[in-house]
Amino acid sequence: MTRGIVLAAGKDTRMKSTMPKVLHEICGRPMLWHVLEALRAAGIEEIVVVTSRELEPALGAFGVRGVVQEPQHGTGHAVQMALAALETRDGTLVVANGDMPLVDKTIFEDVQAAVDADAGTALGLVTARMPLPSSFGRIVRNDATVERIVEFRDCTADEREIDEMNAGIYAFDERALRGVIGRLSSDNAQGEFYLTDTVGLLVAESRRVVPVQAIDFRLVLGVNDRVELATARAAMNERLCHAHMRNGVTIVDPATTYLEPGIAIGADAVIAPNTAIGGSSTIGERARIGPNTRLVNARIGADAAIVESVVLDTVVGAKTTVGPFAHLREGNVIAGGVHIGNFVEVKNARIAAGAKAGHLAYLGDATIGENANIGAGTITCNYDGVNKNPTTIGRDAFIGSNSSLVAPVTIGDGALTGAGAVVIRDVPAGDRVVGNPARSIAAKKPASA
Ligand code: UD1
Ligand code: CA
Repeated sequence: MTRGIVLAAGKDTRMKSTMPKVLHEICGRPMLWHVLEALRAAGIEEIVVVTSRELEPALGAFGVRGVVQEPQHGTGHAVQMALAALETRDGTLVVANGDMPLVDKTIFEDVQAAVDADAGTALGLVTARMPLPSSFGRIVRNDATVERIVEFRDCTADEREIDEMNAGIYAFDERALRGVIGRLSSDNAQGEFYLTDTVGLLVAESRRVVPVQAIDFRLVLGVNDRVELATARAAMNERLCHAHMRNGVTIVDPATTYLEPGIAIGADAVIAPNTAIGGSSTIGERARIGPNTRLVNARIGADAAIVESVVLDTVVGAKTTVGPFAHLREGNVIAGGVHIGNFVEVKNARIAAGAKAGHLAYLGDATIGENANIGAGTITCNYDGVNKNPTTIGRDAFIGSNSSLVAPVTIGDGALTGAGAVVIRDVPAGDRVVGNPARSIAAKKPASA
């Protein structure tokens, strides 16, 4: 069973942040999450993260063990700390920088395969050809064989011209790594113990180092400052968009569509520009989302349309239309064939099939029956200053414009409130009320009768 070590204790000075670098997010997930996800997808489940004191408290959320490296004397020192905390085993140990969120599982599979292929191989080393200039460590070869890695700040002018880079991903034969890790020196431009010096040490012992070239250098780009953070985010977002498009989703403008991992979108859905879809959102087939829309943990049914709106922690049924400019806040369950129109805010509401709230309403802590019609300006007055109270509106009820429904209150099936009614008492099924406070005028036949 291959074990993994992720290096994440670095001082991250170039981020100029009080938050550890690997907690900065790319497409809604911390950088570290992306690296761990790729390692796990490649079958590496037992992972130790070398961490700073600042980062350590956050590690619980990632389900990994942390080893604190304090002070931080470089990537080689970080691996020394990790090895000291791990019992010795025969087998492969994958080491990866924690600041390369674009890695995928294939890289980890390939580099493991390289070291596992032959018992004489001490190290599989991921390299990448990259446009210059670059501040990555350079791979120095002697003919075809890798001889050593030289860090950018220690490079001669000639070495800076080398365009094959050290990606920061290594699959070591653990015994071979333990054999050389204690012999690193800090006699270099940064005064640090470089993990990269293990390459020269292994080669000097005639151990084989097998380079594994990444198919695309963008997979191994590191994030050291916020410019690189934005570049990595754009690349990750493009990758997510491409995956959905290849699955049959139309994304009109990937550059202004912001997706997160962990969402699902049905075939023939259309995502219009300037739309963000995150959390655990799922979108049904042929749904139309956007433009200018944000969905977080939304479950949108097939053929629904969400236009220029915000939808959070809400279920929206098939063929329901929302927006423009609707705000569906947490906890709503909205059935199919509903219409929620412009400037309608809905929170913790259950809305049954065929109901309509076309304009300018606040529906909070409400249960709304089938085919009820909610007039413009309707407010469920759900908060009395102390408690949140429920409003129930029956099926086929008609709520007149600017009605204030003072909760807790129930409007019966087929009942009607007149424009401007202030309803402070329950309205029986089929009744009609008007005024402030609302009084019954003449009952009509209940819809259910
Ligand atoms: C490192 C490599 C370089 C490679 C590049 C790829 C070394 C010496 N250099 O350079 O060859 O091209 O990655 O992105 O390894 N870290 C610790 N403890 C420390 C120092 C760093 O855990 O004491 C962690 C950092 O948090 C980071 C990773 O190790 O996640 C790499 O460190 P960083 O300082 O970013 O190294 P680079 O200069 O990018
Ligand atoms: Ca780095």
